[in-house]
Amino acid sequence: MEALCLLHILLAWCLSCFELVGAELQEQAILQAINQELRVPGWGDANNSDYCTWQGVNCDGKIPDDLGSISELQILNLHSNQLEGPIPASIFVPGKLEVLVLTQNNFSGELPEEIGNCKALSSVRIGNNHLVGTIPKTIGNLSSLTYFEADNNDLSGEVVAEFSQCSNLTLLNLASNGFTGTIPQDFGQLMNLQELILSGNSLFGDIPISILSCKNLNKLDISNNRFNGTIPNEICNITRLQYLLLDQNFIRGEIPHEIGNCAKLLELQLGSNILTGTIPPEIGRIRNLQIALNLSFNHLHGLLPPELGKLDKLVSLDVSNNRLSGNIPPELKGMLSLIEVNFSNNLLAGLVPTFVPFQKSPSSSFLGNKGLCGEPINPSCGTLYDDHKAYHHRVSYRIILAVIGSGLAVFMSVTIVVLLFMIRERQEKVAKDAGIVDESINDNPTIIAGTVFVDNLKQAVDLDAVVKATLKDSNKLSSGTFSTVYKAIMPSGVVLSVRRLKSVDKTIIHHQNKMIRELERLSKVCHDNLVRPIGYVIYEDVALLLHHYFPNGTLAQLLHESTRKPEYQPDWPSRLSIAIGVAEGLAFLHHVAIIHLDISSGNVLLDANFKPLVGEIEISKLLDPTKGTASISAVAGSFGYIPPEYAYTMQVTAPGNVYSYGVVLLEILTTRLPVDEDFGEGVDLVKWVHSAPVRGETPEQILDARLSTVSFGWRKEMLAALKVALLCTDNTPAKRPKMKNVVEMLREIKQN
Ligand SMILES: *[C@@H]1O[C@H](CO)[C@@H](O)[C@H](O)[C@H]1NC(C)=O
Ligand SMILES: *[C@@H]1O[C@H](CO)[C@@H](O)[C@H](O)[C@H]1NC(C)=O
Ligand SMILES: *[C@@H]1O[C@H](CO)[C@@H](O)[C@H](O)[C@H]1NC(C)=O
Ligand SMILES: *[C@@H]1O[C@H](CO)[C@@H](O)[C@H](O)[C@H]1NC(C)=O
Ligand SMILES: *[C@@H]1O[C@H](CO)[C@@H](O)[C@H](O)[C@H]1NC(C)=O
Ligand SMILES: *[C@@H]1O[C@H](CO)[C@@H](O)[C@H](O)[C@H]1NC(C)=O
Ligand SMILES: *[C@@H]1O[C@H](CO)[C@@H](O)[C@H](O)[C@H]1NC(C)=O
Ligand SMILES: *[C@@H]1O[C@H](CO)[C@@H](O)[C@H](O)[C@H]1NC(C)=O
Repeated sequence: MEALCLLHILLAWCLSCFELVGAELQEQAILQAINQELRVPGWGDANNSDYCTWQGVNCDGKIPDDLGSISELQILNLHSNQLEGPIPASIFVPGKLEVLVLTQNNFSGELPEEIGNCKALSSVRIGNNHLVGTIPKTIGNLSSLTYFEADNNDLSGEVVAEFSQCSNLTLLNLASNGFTGTIPQDFGQLMNLQELILSGNSLFGDIPISILSCKNLNKLDISNNRFNGTIPNEICNITRLQYLLLDQNFIRGEIPHEIGNCAKLLELQLGSNILTGTIPPEIGRIRNLQIALNLSFNHLHGLLPPELGKLDKLVSLDVSNNRLSGNIPPELKGMLSLIEVNFSNNLLAGLVPTFVPFQKSPSSSFLGNKGLCGEPINPSCGTLYDDHKAYHHRVSYRIILAVIGSGLAVFMSVTIVVLLFMIRERQEKVAKDAGIVDESINDNPTIIAGTVFVDNLKQAVDLDAVVKATLKDSNKLSSGTFSTVYKAIMPSGVVLSVRRLKSVDKTIIHHQNKMIRELERLSKVCHDNLVRPIGYVIYEDVALLLHHYFPNGTLAQLLHESTRKPEYQPDWPSRLSIAIGVAEGLAFLHHVAIIHLDISSGNVLLDANFKPLVGEIEISKLLDPTKGTASISAVAGSFGYIPPEYAYTMQVTAPGNVYSYGVVLLEILTTRLPVDEDFGEGVDLVKWVHSAPVRGETPEQILDARLSTVSFGWRKEMLAALKVALLCTDNTPAKRPKMKNVVEMLREIKQN
């Protein structure tokens, strides 16, 4: 429903660019101009100066007061322009407005209280402007309000309790303003509230107990304020809580033991407060905790609980700048996902346990303690802890490095051999093609074997015509790692796609019977998202595989063809459907124990309804890499899609397929190629995305902004899908989800 509506908006926008000005304006229900460098002088008068505004020429850039004369205005979307001046009260007067998006402009002045007229207003996004003043109390009249985002302005005064009358409110974001006072008790009535983001203000007092009734709250971010109460014992009554961000306040008292009941928590930020007492061991029960556990800059004392070792998904642990004592418990080695730790400035003592994430950390993560020793602070602990173990580990480290190194060396030389081989083949082929052209104009090569498996196509397919089609370069559709694809029009009118296997794999010709058996088996593999072979032809030493022809080309073409006009770019819901379809196809393949050799967006075909079908599935059976045929080239796959472990395992695996699928999903989310010079030397799409946090970029800067800025819903779904893609492209094969779980996760995103 929402998607349909947005599509409507987008279409309207494309059509309206120039109609907006002048008389047409009176009738317009939807006004949308995103990122147009708009400076709007006087909409409403049919004049040349209006036209100039759409060209971004220098005008005074205010929304005109008489915009209100558009009596039917329902959607006003002008985000990411350079509009300034106040938001005119007149736009709220007719009272029909449903969506107001003015994010990322230079608006100043106050939010007019006339906003309360718009009973149907459901979404207000006015963040990243220079708005001042208070939020008008009439906001409580907006009974349909679901989304209110006004972060990064200069708003002040209290957070008005009237928001609590907006019973459908799902998100309230007032971050980075000058709000003071406390969180209104009445917010406990907001049963639909999912995100409450108030960080970066001057709010104080307690976290009101009433808030614990907001059963749907999943993000509570009140960081960087002056809250000076305690953490309520029953904080985990909010069972859906995933993000609890209370850092940089004056929160006192102890961390309640009940915190262990927050089973869904992903991130717990309590740093820079004045918390006392000990770290409750119950934190170890929050098995979902993965983004961060930050207890730094508090007054915590006592031992580090060994139970923290159970947090095997946790990436970042910071307990620095407290008064913790005792040893670092060896149990912490259970934190298998750890990347970042900080134990500095405590009273810890003893040997730093031998654990890769510890030794790989800079010494600053351990400095400022009473008696910590061992790597990475200092190489040995003297006689007290004579450390043979660490020495052994260092040795085995070197061995592992050496093994990986030689693995890489082998891979490099294999790659070179393969490349040389391919070059030679190409030269041979060029020579041969030249020859064939001469011979074949008159007489066709003799077909050794050939069959059409599908009964109702038997009459329609002419095998000679198939062969002929593959001899003409003009029929060539694409060329992949293992094959070249041709379009073949049968005399009957039926159109086929014919895949000619590269001669690297000639060996298959010598295993004809096996190949035919496999093809026949595959032709019966019945799944909506897989391209099934419908027949084959063998002549001389060439093998041709026949498939249906898909007029909409490949996913790669859909995403990356630069000639595509923006209005033909697939929207997010259709991209998500494609992602799910591909995942379902692969999950099915894995279910019947087939590992794909070459997953890439170029191997995903789109039918007339843009349903995706995974192609080249037979290659994996014909070139069985485990049996030694063509295993070397099989390992190559397509650049940018090859999982890192293939470099030394030389074996194609199901987790390897999951990685390649993750790359396809990233392409869908970012509209970027898997390898691109823009990423920098040696950086591919996966590395570029995974290193975004290091570069200080947010996920939003990674996603295709043309989609993620369209609506809160899309953005949220895209972020969720991005998480799945990150899991799939994990460096460690064992940490990647199974294909069938990927399907489940993506389906869940779609349903929510
Ligand atoms: C067009 O703009 C000029 C000033 O730029 C103004 O004097 C004139 O009245 C406008 N014409 C109409 C039809 O509004
Ligand atoms: C935004 O508006 C203020 C005046 O309200 C002006 O000083 C400033 O230069 C404007 N900024 C931009 C980026 O246009
Ligand atoms: C709108 O809100 C104001 C302030 O809260 C209130 O006084 C007024 O009665 C409300 N109007 C309607 C129609 O609900
Ligand atoms: C709140 O949302 C529900 C479900 O979307 C809808 O049926 C209801 O009309 C909304 N309430 C108001 C006051 O808009
Ligand atoms: C919290 O801060 C407010 C405002 O500074 C102050 O009035 C109040 O007494 C403080 N409460 C506590 C418990 O310190
Ligand atoms: C927390 O949940 C328990 C059990 O549902 C309930 O008895 C208790 O009143 C709740 N506490 C608060 C402060 O909401
Ligand atoms: C933990 O929180 C503190 C205070 O908010 C912050 O300075 C520090 O950078 C955080 N640690 C990590 C690892 O992000
Ligand atoms: C650990 O925390 C200390 C003190 O806050 C800081 O100086 C140091 O850079 C941090 N180490 C790392 C690796 O973040």
